[in-house]
Amino acid sequence: MTLRANRAAFDRWRLLPRMLRGLSDVSTATSVLGQAITLPVLIAPSGRHRLCHDEGERAAARAARAAGTIYTMSTAATFAIEEIAAEAGPWWFQLYVYRDRGLTRELVARAEAAGASAVVVTVDVPQRGRREAEERIHFAMPPGVATALLAAPEGTCVSTGASGTAVAAEINAVFDPTLTWHDLDWLASLSPLPILLKGILHPADALQAVAYGARAILVSNHGGRQLDSAVAALDALPAVVEAVADRAEVLVDGGVRRGTDVVKALALGARAVLIGRPIHWGLAMGGESGVRHVLELLRAELALDLMLCGLASPVEVDRALILPA
Ligand SMILES: Cc1cc2nc3c(=O)[nH]c(=O)nc-3n(C[C@H](O)[C@H](O)[C@H](O)COP(=O)(O)O)c2cc1C
Repeated sequence: MTLRANRAAFDRWRLLPRMLRGLSDVSTATSVLGQAITLPVLIAPSGRHRLCHDEGERAAARAARAAGTIYTMSTAATFAIEEIAAEAGPWWFQLYVYRDRGLTRELVARAEAAGASAVVVTVDVPQRGRREAEERIHFAMPPGVATALLAAPEGTCVSTGASGTAVAAEINAVFDPTLTWHDLDWLASLSPLPILLKGILHPADALQAVAYGARAILVSNHGGRQLDSAVAALDALPAVVEAVADRAEVLVDGGVRRGTDVVKALALGARAVLIGRPIHWGLAMGGESGVRHVLELLRAELALDLMLCGLASPVEVDRALILPA
């Protein structure tokens, strides 16, 4: 339901374009947390890219660099932090907080040393959501493909029983479900990097995030992969933007597939959007060039859409551009 809702939410808005603006050129450039990017579309953290292509995260990171946008490296990557970082332009490190806080600290230190410019703490996975499609096919990582940072300590992998998958069991053994707001102070002490919280939907949580010093909030329901029936990310966005006011940047992901989706998210107050699945599709079709193609399609659509809205750049998009359908 939430997977469908993420897409359907975009269909419930219409754009109200302006005319005769004398535009000769349109730029898709903007900035996020002070980082100049040429496109308000970032790469969402998603794991296991080598399931899609041999060069996995390295190819996706190169594509993001070529497109002039930010790559978010997942904790569930299938190459080492340093191997991916060597090929990336500006990049953020997505962190799952482990039960083993020493390991967590080590991951943040490695990311900082390798050049990450922010830490994205994903807060919507106290346990892995139930992925019925994965259960039906008994999903497991194929031989020769492994997550570089996730391996559960010897002996801690719980049995999966009749349902569930080995992947889910591994994650539930490693991630810490007892995480609270107070742990954010500890996380902030690990490095000088700005912290973003990913997976916030409730405006009261957004307020807490700001109070605990989060520099940006990523409104997300994990692409519909955690709590099924959770609110669509786009529907949660306006209240979060209102609660946060200008005290943090607000980003959103979930269901962004078109240039007009980007425009709608910006009109509802997002600084930029992230895309998850389209990166996998691009990788599976053509590795680095497939991901570049996905990003260039979005760039071309966004440039045309801005022109047709009478706007010269993403930073000119505001609430007056959008109406409920
Ligand atoms: C296959 C897959 C793996 C993902 N892995 C992660 C992950 O490791 N960490 C994380 O924070 N989010 C992860 N996500 C969620 C994405 O960051 C993002 O929130 C979501 O994909 C956005 O929705 P979209 O796929 O509709 O664009 C994953 C999503 C997918 C589809």
